[in-house]
Amino acid sequence: MTADYRVVIGDSRRMRELADNSVHLVVTSPPYPMVSIWDNFFRDESAQSYDQMHDCLNNTWKEVKRVLVPGGIACVNIGDATRTKDGVFHLYPNHSRVIESFEQLGLVTLPYVLWKKPTTKPRYKGKGAFLGSGFLPPNAYVTLDMEFILIFRKGNLRSFEPKDPKRYGSKFTKKERDEWFSQVWTVTGARQTQGGLERRVAAFPEEIPRRLIRMFSIESDLVLDPFLGSGTSLKAAMNLNRRFVGYEKLEDFSRIIRERMGQESERILFQKQSVVEQISSELIA
Ligand SMILES: C[S@@+](CC[C@H](N)C(=O)[O-])C[C@H]1O[C@@H](n2cnc3c(N)ncnc32)[C@H](O)[C@@H]1O
Repeated sequence: MTADYRVVIGDSRRMRELADNSVHLVVTSPPYPMVSIWDNFFRDESAQSYDQMHDCLNNTWKEVKRVLVPGGIACVNIGDATRTKDGVFHLYPNHSRVIESFEQLGLVTLPYVLWKKPTTKPRYKGKGAFLGSGFLPPNAYVTLDMEFILIFRKGNLRSFEPKDPKRYGSKFTKKERDEWFSQVWTVTGARQTQGGLERRVAAFPEEIPRRLIRMFSIESDLVLDPFLGSGTSLKAAMNLNRRFVGYEKLEDFSRIIRERMGQESERILFQKQSVVEQISSELIA
């Protein structure tokens, strides 16, 4: 079965619907280990420690490697976390753990983007805003107000025919290049218009996948988001004339994505994950 836009309700640790070497670009934001809004989620997967949470994500990263075409790119948006355990303060550098995981899988790590979120307020001792003794040295902490957009490539550079018309048609401007290929991006956080579930999923603003899709894919490429949430990357891909497949474990998101996409949702195939291995002709290639 082929469709230009697909949402698979299922687990991206096994993306049976996708053939090896079939995806040109991955743009995603997983649940962040040791960030409290995701604790229950990881607990449901029997992952309680930092290591177990990353082991859980690693299964998806292995699949990402399998499905990417040679030269395909994976962009992973993740933030670090802090937590006090047994009275001891810890920094959990999620971004470096994900880099290690991709390196171990044999992908090439490219320079990453630091996404500065202008809305975050400085915090004191990892809790509220600076108050009273928060202005006195030396006991305040630096605020975690950056997220990382890690960028990996599977193998060598992707190859194209000389003057490939789709590649040339997907060109960016000098202004776009200067802004997008610099290391710090200041992009305002997503507006939470859908209430409860969308807020809880910590959606990224559409500008993030929009830039990444323009930077690292060409028209009609296949883009994958293995942690789809409310469908931000799907919306960006549709607007940019790329094909798309997303995986989301929670069925409730089908409704949110449909509402968000309005009439455009008629172009999206929603399907439940197959329980048996597909025959290869049914795989997206
Ligand atoms: C940080 S949210 C993604 C937010 C998304 N970028 C957006 O803009 O809405 C991560 C999502 O991944 C989903 N998820 C977590 N593990 C998954 C898995 N193994 N397979 C598929 N989806 C998963 C969660 O239910 C959650 O909706």
